[in-house]
Amino acid sequence: MTDYQTGFGNHFATEAVPGALPIGRNSPQKPPFGLYAEQLSGTAFTAPRHENRRSWLYRLRPSAAHPAFTRYTGAKRFAPGLSKDPLAPNRLRWGPTEIEDADWLDSLTTMIVAGDGPATQAGVAMHLYAASKDMIDRAFVSGDGELLILPEMGALTLLTELGRIDVKPGQVALIPRGVRFRVTLPDGKARGYVAENHGQPFRLPDLGPIGSNGLANPRDFETPAAWFEDREGKFELVQKFLGSLWTTELGRSPLDVVAWHGNYAPWRYDLARFNTIGSISFDHPDPSIFTVLTSPSDVPGTANADFVIFPPRWMVAEDTFRPPWFHRNVMSEAMGLIHGAYDAKADGFVPGALSLHNQMSGHGPDVASWKGASEAELKPHKIDGTMAFMIESRWVFRATDFALQTGTLDEDYDQVWTGFPKAQLPDRT
Ligand SMILES: [Fe+2]
Repeated sequence: MTDYQTGFGNHFATEAVPGALPIGRNSPQKPPFGLYAEQLSGTAFTAPRHENRRSWLYRLRPSAAHPAFTRYTGAKRFAPGLSKDPLAPNRLRWGPTEIEDADWLDSLTTMIVAGDGPATQAGVAMHLYAASKDMIDRAFVSGDGELLILPEMGALTLLTELGRIDVKPGQVALIPRGVRFRVTLPDGKARGYVAENHGQPFRLPDLGPIGSNGLANPRDFETPAAWFEDREGKFELVQKFLGSLWTTELGRSPLDVVAWHGNYAPWRYDLARFNTIGSISFDHPDPSIFTVLTSPSDVPGTANADFVIFPPRWMVAEDTFRPPWFHRNVMSEAMGLIHGAYDAKADGFVPGALSLHNQMSGHGPDVASWKGASEAELKPHKIDGTMAFMIESRWVFRATDFALQTGTLDEDYDQVWTGFPKAQLPDRT
């Protein structure tokens, strides 16, 4: 069992050993028990106070103590670089991946990346994992972005520098940029999605006229209490840095933070707690009403990345085509499915699948969904037992060579938009 502290971006204080956390100062001359004080900054020191994120860690050894990194040769499909070919404006969809004989890290597969990559501190990458082994004597850290982890099959235990997080399908977890962690699989195997946000940290969206409550409420985010492992011996640390993977040998577990305080920390969130808001008159609002978290860009209201969900909800709108309408957007959309069925696709989009509708590509309901919704009796109807999500970005997503060549790519995806009957105008003669 893990104890959790609640709230989004709160200033937490926690210690796994009584007396380990300094009181009233961050860096005393001699921290308790000879622990090493270390600040971990997630924003520039001088970021505005309401955006400023940092934590102070008190650990068995400083994280600076390690030999030089060398290139990591595992995880061949993780962060491989993007296809050099010109990007076709095609809609793309991939089926679920097979579980591999690999741990979480080595199963990571980069599918699509929005933006110019980590060097610009903008954009977002979508990775998939499909693992069957625990990470025992190694940890991973991304210097390139925070990791939003979305399990689709099987629970994960995320053993991080700042505590243990148990997360299962229907919940999501976030590992901040720079936080080291390893992953174990309580169910023996696990599959899901990772959105690596290279831009500004995810935050709760402003609510405007919605008011002071609604959508994802801050109290439902859970950050673990301090936890550590005191382990000496062979221990590998793999780091993602500027889009490449690197490794070093520590001789100890880096998960040795005995106490910490601050507002830069991992968390989990149960998507079932999302307060879903929709139309009670006609039309349905833009899907931005389903935004859980947003990573702003330098253009106001134009996200580097939005994390959006399509949860169970009542549909009651009158004289309305209720599923998502046909649309072409300036924003680019990557979608996944945690469980159930998505209301704009009759088939082919299954749990574990990934779809991509880039900037200005026409998409929306398939023929069967359009026909069904056009002819349906408009009674109140509950969309239930489903959880789809979208990572939406102002930056166009590019696919990796692997993604464009893998057998899970649906070669016939365009077919879902063929066969619409032509509209019948009145006779104009
Ligand atoms: Fe869309």
